[in-house]
Amino acid sequence: MLTTLLAFANTIAIIPQPSIVIPQPGGFDLNAQTVISADKGLANVATRLREYWKTGTGLELPNGSSTSNVIRIKLDSKAKLGEEGYRLTVDPQMVEIVAAKPAGAFYAVQSLRQLLPADSFGNKKSSQKLVVPSVIIEDVPRFSWRGSMLDTGRHFMPKEAIKKYIDTLALHKLNVFHWHLTEDQGWRLEIKKYPKLTSVGSTRSKTMLKYSPAEYENKPYGGFYTQQDAKEIVKYAAERYVTVVPEIEMPGHSQAAIAAYPELGNTKDQLEVANKWGVVTHVYNPELTTIKFLQDVLDEVMAIFPSKYIHIGGDECPKDEWKASPRVQQLIKERGLKDEHEMQSWFIGQMDKYLASKGRNLIGWDEILEGGLAPGAAVMSWRGEAGGIAAAKAKHNVVMASNNAFYFDYYQADPKNEPHAIGGFLPLKKVYDFDILPATLKPDERKYIIGGQFQIWTEYIRTPEYAEYMAFPRGCAAAEVLWSAKSKKNFRNFVERLTTHADRLTALGVNFRPLDPGVAGVAAEWKSGDFSNDYQVKSFNITQAVPVAGSYTVLFQYTGGGQRLDVDGIEILVNGEVAATDPHYGRTGSVNVDNLWKFNLKNLPKGAKVELRIKARGDGGGDTNGDITITKA
Ligand code: ACM
Repeated sequence: MLTTLLAFANTIAIIPQPSIVIPQPGGFDLNAQTVISADKGLANVATRLREYWKTGTGLELPNGSSTSNVIRIKLDSKAKLGEEGYRLTVDPQMVEIVAAKPAGAFYAVQSLRQLLPADSFGNKKSSQKLVVPSVIIEDVPRFSWRGSMLDTGRHFMPKEAIKKYIDTLALHKLNVFHWHLTEDQGWRLEIKKYPKLTSVGSTRSKTMLKYSPAEYENKPYGGFYTQQDAKEIVKYAAERYVTVVPEIEMPGHSQAAIAAYPELGNTKDQLEVANKWGVVTHVYNPELTTIKFLQDVLDEVMAIFPSKYIHIGGDECPKDEWKASPRVQQLIKERGLKDEHEMQSWFIGQMDKYLASKGRNLIGWDEILEGGLAPGAAVMSWRGEAGGIAAAKAKHNVVMASNNAFYFDYYQADPKNEPHAIGGFLPLKKVYDFDILPATLKPDERKYIIGGQFQIWTEYIRTPEYAEYMAFPRGCAAAEVLWSAKSKKNFRNFVERLTTHADRLTALGVNFRPLDPGVAGVAAEWKSGDFSNDYQVKSFNITQAVPVAGSYTVLFQYTGGGQRLDVDGIEILVNGEVAATDPHYGRTGSVNVDNLWKFNLKNLPKGAKVELRIKARGDGGGDTNGDITITKA
């Protein structure tokens, strides 16, 4: 009995980790006689389950009302499970799902899928006997906004790729797809009143492949979504309980639109659609005619996207053109504004009022907070958490999209071995360890943090396959940050579950980055107090990360604290004897210098203990934290 229980406990590996999982003895046989009995209002959830299992199990799962061999899906408005929570009970007679709302039942289905072997996710019938292990699961999410932004402005992603992306979000119980639709380098949504936005604005003459030294692909690049495409995506997402939040950027990141309609700009120049990455100085002018143009655009956007929130960008709007323009200076005076920054605030305010008059709420990047905001507007905090903290204190809802944990265009491993990316470094563990609730917020301010999301900016992410590579498995970690109770988070346990989960992603054809050996590559960590201002020698057991002989890299990565770590060389000890050294000096902090060490073990006896010995100090004190990642070269 105990062994059975343990065996099943080991097979339960759900991501994100549910609130309560109680394994029970035995299991439910899925077979050709199994039926689904779904309450009224749950037909869509039943359809999704059938679809998910159609190829991988080969079962039809017709509707039926028997009391055994049934998957019963029930709505119970009195169940204290909130908007998205569920209870999933599996015993040898039946699978029972209870939720207060359909979304909750859908998330129960996502957990149920993950109780079957990974090959049931694939495109041919599983060769294994289909037994769902008996279990009681009760689960509610920690945050209500759990999302991902995909930038289709820099690179267009085909409709089918967007659907697959949404499917992968839903698997992880993520419920917001933030669709970045306009950029300097491309306008991607058909607007019927202004056809040149796509006939001109969707195509650039060339594409930047590397920033410095600049390297280009010298051929036109374009693509856009028709309104019909966008409606199809919205419907597809809604059937998976994912809300699509569209983003139309303003007043910056608007060069493609100005190229299409030069009267929206500040100079008489005919601009081209931008073809260089980075922040460009060409921005919308703040004329009432431009405001009207953008409100017309938003009218069409609102007709396609039913989301409560409409994203208007608001980030990175250089004020150079407004400063240089006599006309804008005159408008600043006429409107009683102090300067260009107040003009940006005025601009956003026009949109805020307009969206509010249509029953929608504005959301924008954290720059929109500068100059004050209407009460219903929400802030997406991207420059760390500072904007989010300020917004919560000002009683605005906040979505944490922080670039210090959720910018998945950053490298996830040693850049030397990774495809070209924009920069930065956000390995899996750093994402996992992030808490979107800033510790400095008072309890009554915390409620304004409604959730978070990870971003896929696509300057260098040219294909859906590469987008998946950058999104997962870090997206699995983000899902756990956003869904699971803080008390349930445990990186080692997560990585164990992720090993099973990776097989599901493989079966689904998701091009995730393969998992690093050991505990996702993090062999050891240092914490505040481990070091001081003076150099000292310290050893870490790295046996698990170095299972065989060969060449390895050792990356020291600072993750927080007041001091950087200086490392004056490393030694590798095998069974207590020095077997390799890399004596170079390096350091890791807000800036990294030579923080990658290398070693080669020509042979390694079976069962040998491997240690990493370093001489290191915190520069100015011991308040330094970080991860040591070991990768086999
Ligand atoms: C941003 O990364 N500019 C929101």
